[in-house]
Amino acid sequence: MSEEKRDIHKPILFECAWEVANKVGGIYTVIKTKVPVTVSEYGDRYTLVGPLSYKTAPMEVEPEEPADPAVASSLESMRNKGVKILYGRWLIEGNPHVLLFDTGSQYHRLDEWKGDLWNLAGIPTPPNDHETNETIVFGYLVAWFLGEYVSHQLHTAVIAHFHEWQAGIAIPLCRKRHIDVTTVFTTHATLLGRYLCAGSVDFYNNLQYFDVDHEAGKRGIYHRYCIERSATHCADVFTTVSHITAYEAEHLLKRKPDGVLPNGLNVVKFQAMHEFQNLHSTAKTKINEFVRGHFYGHLDFDLDSTLYMFTAGRYEYRNKGVDMFIESLARLNYRLQQSSSNVTVVAFLIMPAATHSYTIDSLKGQAVTKQLKDTVTEIQNRVGARLFDFASRSNGEFSKIPPPEELLSEEDKVALKRRIFALKRNALPPVTTHNMADDAADPVLNQIRRVRLFNSSNDRVKIVFHPDFLNSNNPVLGMDYEEFVRGTHLGVFPSYYEPWGYTPAECTVMGIPSVTTNLSGFGCFMQDMIDRPEDEGCYIIDRRTKSPEESVNQLAEVLFSFCAKSRRQRINQRNRVERLSPLLDWKNLGVEYSKARQLGLRRAYPDEFYAGAEVEEEYEFANGPERLAISMPGSPRFRTDGLKTPGDIGTLTEEMQALNTSDYRGYQWPQGAEDEEDSYPFPLV
Ligand code: UDP
Ligand code: G6P
Ligand code: GLC
Repeated sequence: MSEEKRDIHKPILFECAWEVANKVGGIYTVIKTKVPVTVSEYGDRYTLVGPLSYKTAPMEVEPEEPADPAVASSLESMRNKGVKILYGRWLIEGNPHVLLFDTGSQYHRLDEWKGDLWNLAGIPTPPNDHETNETIVFGYLVAWFLGEYVSHQLHTAVIAHFHEWQAGIAIPLCRKRHIDVTTVFTTHATLLGRYLCAGSVDFYNNLQYFDVDHEAGKRGIYHRYCIERSATHCADVFTTVSHITAYEAEHLLKRKPDGVLPNGLNVVKFQAMHEFQNLHSTAKTKINEFVRGHFYGHLDFDLDSTLYMFTAGRYEYRNKGVDMFIESLARLNYRLQQSSSNVTVVAFLIMPAATHSYTIDSLKGQAVTKQLKDTVTEIQNRVGARLFDFASRSNGEFSKIPPPEELLSEEDKVALKRRIFALKRNALPPVTTHNMADDAADPVLNQIRRVRLFNSSNDRVKIVFHPDFLNSNNPVLGMDYEEFVRGTHLGVFPSYYEPWGYTPAECTVMGIPSVTTNLSGFGCFMQDMIDRPEDEGCYIIDRRTKSPEESVNQLAEVLFSFCAKSRRQRINQRNRVERLSPLLDWKNLGVEYSKARQLGLRRAYPDEFYAGAEVEEEYEFANGPERLAISMPGSPRFRTDGLKTPGDIGTLTEEMQALNTSDYRGYQWPQGAEDEEDSYPFPLV
């Protein structure tokens, strides 16, 4: 650190992630939804830093000249050396400053920087790992910028907050170069955890015993692992998004996190007050339209007693629990058949995979139903005109009105027949909307084939696999993700590996019940916060202490009892779910980030805190934020056994360092090594 005394009262904040203005998965959601609460704390002292993608940036960012002279000088100096940079405002709520680096403009320095990384940190880098190359160039550019910035601005403390390993390289560089910033590193997963779980390993019972270097080497990710681990160890403050990931990080990255920063949502964005029930209804009508098209010729079920269930996310077949979802759907199908239920379930799987666009059949289905609808509308107009004509000339005698079938002209009948014949179809409605690039090897399709859920007439559970993210411009299922979620009845996310899991959290704030597991950060968080989450429409499947067979049965049971609910019960349940929103609001959870930054400042500038210097806002680390004021009648029973607020969940304290692992909330982790064989009762493909 420099000899200059930096003022810690109004620090400058740079928050850096690969997903700034660049959507990939949940980290984009963290960054984007947190902006309003961070801007309200930091205002113009806050800048997000990310990679420059020429595909998305022009839509997301409005270019601007930096008002901060130190930023301007730093960028000028970098531009003089050929770095291409986009600086401006990110066009999202909160309008933060954003600084994007074009990694391509500095690829010629890759080898030099790789050599430096090896000399500096002993991190090896193979030649053909594109993602790692991007990470290196990006990390060097960020560290370069921070170095420039603190040499131009000497009076105010600087906090640099980094998310995930792809943004992590700058952290060891800051440390080695003695750049005068304090660093916070937040992991949203561990690389090894994700890889190990995706294979067939009994992960949670063996966490303490993995030979991490060996496992990383075996999977060809040793160099990435080194980057992640060095970011973890060089950061002043290290955090994760949930207790379950904190436990994992301690064992796999070998540093106990300083605290947990649970993920929030910008609840205002979703808050539709009493209107959200109406939104469900209108969005459901749109899904109905899609279903009519997709199942044309086989629409022998009543849409009024059809329930829409779905899962969505990046295509991580086992980690996201898709294997378990499909197996449970097969069991649900059987139980609905056995009980002669009149309920039909349409289960959607929304997960991007490699495809060659929509199938002709999918496009045709939407087209023929649209033509039918248009023809019916025309006939309706003509019949209406005729009826009006007869009625107005009836001179008060009802008998003058011809019977309904005569109101249809021959021409109308022919037109209608043509449309109805177009609905004939020999094959069953397909389970997928797209042509898959690798149909034969696709794990989702193979599992569907194995359980034989082929959308036949007697199946009470139908499947629609949409292997792409949703978008309102799509010709098939043209809805945005949020609108789609609102129109469904139940989100199902039975993840095996899920550090947080935004998808069920988003369901919650939209008032849609969801299923998750006690291996997901979100599931554990809800279990910690509420007494009986299942009573609030937040079902949590036990995948930690139960065998896969038991978990599948538990899930099938939850789905089956959901199908038995009446419409009124579903409406009530949606109301209850929606009331949980404040628990997930950044307005309540954002304070955990403030604590992490404060801890960073304390560690970087201890004298400012302990030598009698005044600090405007002194955080009480141990207590967490104020208790949430939720006072609706019949509202959820928030836990009273010591866990009261999100702040009690986030446990960012200096003291925590001294505690041992058993302090992770709600976990009884195995004490002894138990090399149980990883057996699935249902074959995994
Ligand atoms: N998502 C989306 N479009 C879709 C499906 C999902 O934008 O069609 C988003 C969803 O809103 C969520 C994110 O993808 O914010 C997934 O985040 P999550 O934390 O569940 O999983 P991750 O991909 O980070 O592992
Ligand atoms: C909302 C609407 C109601 C509608 C109901 C359908 O609550 O306000 O008008 O009847 O949704 O609920 P369902 O669970 O059957 O889709
Ligand atoms: C990661 C995790 C996901 C989490 C997201 C945001 O991508 O896989 O569970 O919700 O980060 O923290």
